[in-house]
Amino acid sequence: MITEADYKKLRDVLYRRTGIDLDMKRFKILKPKLEKLMREMGYDNFRSFFHDYRFKKNKEVEQALLNTVTINETYFYREKHQFESLVNDVLYQIDKIRPKDEVIRILCAPSSTGEEPYSIALHLLDEGKLIEKRDFEIVGIDIDSNVIKKAQKGIFTKRSIQYVPPHILKEYFTQRGMSYEIADFLKEAVEFKVVNVMDKFAMKKLGKFDVIFSRNMLIYFNDESRRKVAMTFYEMLKPKGVVFLGHAESMSRIVSVFKTAKSGSSIYYIKD
Ligand SMILES: C[S@@+](CC[C@H](N)C(=O)[O-])C[C@H]1O[C@@H](n2cnc3c(N)ncnc32)[C@H](O)[C@@H]1O
Repeated sequence: MITEADYKKLRDVLYRRTGIDLDMKRFKILKPKLEKLMREMGYDNFRSFFHDYRFKKNKEVEQALLNTVTINETYFYREKHQFESLVNDVLYQIDKIRPKDEVIRILCAPSSTGEEPYSIALHLLDEGKLIEKRDFEIVGIDIDSNVIKKAQKGIFTKRSIQYVPPHILKEYFTQRGMSYEIADFLKEAVEFKVVNVMDKFAMKKLGKFDVIFSRNMLIYFNDESRRKVAMTFYEMLKPKGVVFLGHAESMSRIVSVFKTAKSGSSIYYIKD
């Protein structure tokens, strides 16, 4: 039902709106998924499905399409040296320059199913000293509404929690059969929202942040989308706020407005 030419049309619009690149290599895998989605949504031809997506005639089509094509791989304590640099070094530097009663705000854009923002919360709890003297707010956003629902539920697989240290697992998770549920107070402490990072208006509505984690998303974007998102992050950061990217990503290749810094083996970027 969906041809390569149809897929290319879809690819163009999706890329412009979200930065997500539907690689031609994924055509074979995505074709049956997209056809199933079309059938389930009552479309018997690509033309009308694409028309409704393109002209935003049906919001459900757009969300269902996004939920089908995103790649959501994530796990707790992924590249944990960055969380260690955050709680043992970077946050102490930020703490020194912020008024004593100001909340320190951390954004994970994107959060996928929540392992990254929860890992930050767990590192803060484990470090202990900072959260005794400061309030923290952690926000996770993603364009995929299914992963945001999963993040809010806070139930994870064994594979996802495999790198969580045993003492943390014991204290903050409850095992239920094959699943691990994170403590309720942590679910309440981390806020999750469906937001497209390319939507500058929706991003700015989230407010100003001290730290932005944006790992393993920009690698899939083209240069122009990367630049746009990097500049949105820049505007959303408080003075001297910082960005952490994934290990394959580098801000200096995207924009020149950030100063590069190092903490242990972690590179991060400071709003200058
Ligand atoms: C591979 S996951 C990365 C999750 C986590 N940051 C990590 O590194 O483990 C990439 C996520 O980016 C999200 N994403 C892709 N394009 C997006 C956009 N335009 N706005 C918000 N999230 C997006 C996808 O839905 C997916 O959940």
